[in-house]
Amino acid sequence: MKFRLTGKIRKILARDKKVILTTTRGDVPFVASHGDGDFIYDVSENKFIDFSTLISVYNFGVNSTKASREAAKRQIDKLGHAAFTDYYAELPVEFAENLMKMFPDGFGKVFFSNSGTEANEAAIKYSKLFTKRQYTLAFYGAFHGRTYGSLSLTASKTAQREHFGPFNSTVHTPYAYCYRCPFGKEYPSCGMACLDHIKKFALGKDVSGKEVAAVFMEPVQGEGGYIVPPKEFVRGVKEIAQDNGMLFVSDEVQAGYMRTGKFLALDNFGVKADIYSLAKAAGAGLPLGLTVVRNSLGDVPEGAHSNTFGGNLVAVAAGNEQLKYVLKNRQSLEDQTKSKGRYMMDRLNEMKERYEIMGDVRGLGMMIGVEFVKDKKSKDPAPKERDDVTVEAFNNGLLMLPCGLSTLRIIPPVTIAQKNLEEGMDILEAAINKVNKKS
Ligand SMILES: Cc1ncc(COP(=O)(O)O)c(C=O)c1O
Repeated sequence: MKFRLTGKIRKILARDKKVILTTTRGDVPFVASHGDGDFIYDVSENKFIDFSTLISVYNFGVNSTKASREAAKRQIDKLGHAAFTDYYAELPVEFAENLMKMFPDGFGKVFFSNSGTEANEAAIKYSKLFTKRQYTLAFYGAFHGRTYGSLSLTASKTAQREHFGPFNSTVHTPYAYCYRCPFGKEYPSCGMACLDHIKKFALGKDVSGKEVAAVFMEPVQGEGGYIVPPKEFVRGVKEIAQDNGMLFVSDEVQAGYMRTGKFLALDNFGVKADIYSLAKAAGAGLPLGLTVVRNSLGDVPEGAHSNTFGGNLVAVAAGNEQLKYVLKNRQSLEDQTKSKGRYMMDRLNEMKERYEIMGDVRGLGMMIGVEFVKDKKSKDPAPKERDDVTVEAFNNGLLMLPCGLSTLRIIPPVTIAQKNLEEGMDILEAAINKVNKKS
């Protein structure tokens, strides 16, 4: 279906411009109205296949499951806010009990918040509290949020940090971005220079490993460009953390909740974290952040960390029904994610052979990125071509989002029907074909 830019859309965009502060919007005039499952519609009934999951939120289809919506509706009439950090309520306890069924043995406690950045703020404070150390270690390209603690860990784009320093005490080190290896090497002959760098420089010159409370890692870098590291890298970082007595925090805000074929993305690497942070998909479309702590770390002293809206009953009601759905269908969701992910990767890799502007295709499960380049030899980033592909696909009924410098994220709901997935891939291929011809 061809997109129609109507007067109604134009008017809302003009009103928005007057009263809404600028955020991170790109080039597509998508004005959301309603949606269900694989599709999202705008205010003029333009229909889109959703390959954005509205920024990694609707992993189980637009507007999540009917049961989660109904639970939220019931709960809002009963009681929305219970001051759960000051009093008690059963629903967040039930949610936590269900959540722990998705976690490895030895995990039993959660802190509720409202976003990914808050989930990471809690993880920063807890890791400092548990270790009595003050530094954190994070990666170039990382995105952990935009409030001060998590922004100190974030090092994806300078625009996100410009004018906001000084930051919290964080040391950054290169991630295993093998397509553009920061050390000019190639995997696997590189000898894992990125791990060496941590030992020799980050912890050898910048700060002593004995002073680092935790290393924060996205198992797959999201906003930074959908970068899937080799297993060896993740395992090596875990080893370094263990050797230095620092905690390992897995930021699963974007990669978690089944996106990669496992509930926890870190499980793909055979590594366990000490603290996990989740958000985005957790609330079935409502704001819900989660910080999950390994039992052996103990509890937090009273008054050390809390908030007002954590455990909000409406968000938790929706999230709990969605979680029950995930628990019931866990195996099927894992299988679907793997097989649909394979289909997408095969098709994209085959397209890469034909289109010069497709530099790299990478992914884990259904968390897939295509990095656009001017040409395969120079590998010069091609953000304009990436944006042109996004707009062309949008004009033909496919919704997607960018990431990194010139990467497109391809993240349909893991529950998408094969037919709609194939139609979306056809639209994407036609868009790439058109832009490739012009470049
Ligand atoms: C990996 C990761 N961590 C944290 C965040 C921050 O989440 P929020 O925008 O809910 O604060 C994001 C958001 O994109 C993310 O991708």
